[in-house]
Amino acid sequence: MPARVIPLHDARTLQPALPVAAGRSWPPGQAGSVADALGRPLRDLRISVTDRCNFRCGYCMPKQVFGKHHEFLPHAELLNFEEITRLAGVFVGLGVEKLRITGGEPLLRRHLETLIEMLAPLRTPAGRPLDLTLTTNGSMLARKAAALKAAGLQRLTVSLDGLNDAVFQRMNDVGFPVAEVLEGIRAAQAVGLGPIKVNMVVQRGVNDDQILPMARHFRGSGVVLRFIEFMDVGATNGWRMEQVLPSAEVMRRIAAEFPLVPLSSSAPGETAERWAYADGSGEVGFISSVTQAFCGDCNRARLSTEGQLYTCLFATRGHDLRGLLRGAAPVDDGQLSAAVAAVWAGRTDRYSQLRGRGAPTPDGPRRVEMHYIGG
Ligand code: GTP
Ligand code: 5AD
Ligand code: SF4
Ligand code: SF4
Repeated sequence: MPARVIPLHDARTLQPALPVAAGRSWPPGQAGSVADALGRPLRDLRISVTDRCNFRCGYCMPKQVFGKHHEFLPHAELLNFEEITRLAGVFVGLGVEKLRITGGEPLLRRHLETLIEMLAPLRTPAGRPLDLTLTTNGSMLARKAAALKAAGLQRLTVSLDGLNDAVFQRMNDVGFPVAEVLEGIRAAQAVGLGPIKVNMVVQRGVNDDQILPMARHFRGSGVVLRFIEFMDVGATNGWRMEQVLPSAEVMRRIAAEFPLVPLSSSAPGETAERWAYADGSGEVGFISSVTQAFCGDCNRARLSTEGQLYTCLFATRGHDLRGLLRGAAPVDDGQLSAAVAAVWAGRTDRYSQLRGRGAPTPDGPRRVEMHYIGG
């Protein structure tokens, strides 16, 4: 196949720091929940700890764009662990109950277990522990699972797009073998990280022949396999609707071999539709952001590697929290909280829903890349 050359629109332009109102907190004097302009609460914070990855999945970081000469962020630009922990605490004060560490590949961030250790003690205003999890490509998991568990990680999600080596290596585009990811999953299970989820992005004609082998492999293993529709996220993956295999078709193929029964959702705003194998051998999920958008109750915020707050995966701009943390005048947590709450209160994002209806979307070619704001 001739190489596609896709220009990189770099959306990593820092915005001016958010304004802070002196002495204000949100709501005045106390922490509490905040709803956006469409009434959606803030519950889930995804934190990208690095924009680097050792894979080059075509749907996320195509090699033609993220080649040898691509400049990743210098270390000084990244939020440090103290900054991340402080911001996470502020988000928790505003209603966040789940923290997901992402990247790029988060296990490439040095001493990541130290960050996990710092985040694990956070509690909701009602005193409940948070759901603390991580999304990884699994390539370094066999080595790191025990340290992550010891640091206080509860569960994790591994991305794996096929069981056949030729297919998987074409997907990751760096020749990484399936066996090492499976070894990582086994190591994570062995140290008691769970439940483990495996996410498979399905691209028609590329890896859809892996749907049934993946279902057969993970059935009965305790791992929850989830199929994700290939999304038009970012500006570099050359997305085409013809490459999307609708979840309805994925489900039809699985149900033809293994009958499925629906499960109720386990949390409001959940991305996946959950189904169980009728014979009791576990659960599968379908994430259908293209054919069945789930913006209606989207409660997810994203904190980029360099401390920009994004209110949608398809956003073109973020809001600069790092500028507040590192500004000349120190800000207290109440001021940070007020700034985040003001951004959330003005949020109207529902990109996938609008695109699904064929309505105009408020985006452009400069959509931010997923490895930078976190999946
Ligand atoms: P669990 O809490 O384990 O169920 O995880 P999750 O489904 O919230 O998160 P995960 O990171 O596993 O999400 C799976 C995939 O769903 C991501 O990799 C994205 O492809 C997609 N996804 C997650 N959040 C959003 C979102 O807000 N919008 C859209 N369009 N897709 C999303
Ligand atoms: N479409 C769907 N999911 C994607 N991811 C990254 N890019 C895309 C895309 N274009 C998700 C996958 C991967 C995680 C890190 O991000 O779930 O496993
Ligand atoms: Fe890396 Fe995950 Fe993106 Fe693949 S999808 S390039 S593993 S960050
Ligand atoms: Fe949420 Fe934006 Fe995804 Fe819709 S498209 S579910 S608003 S992140």
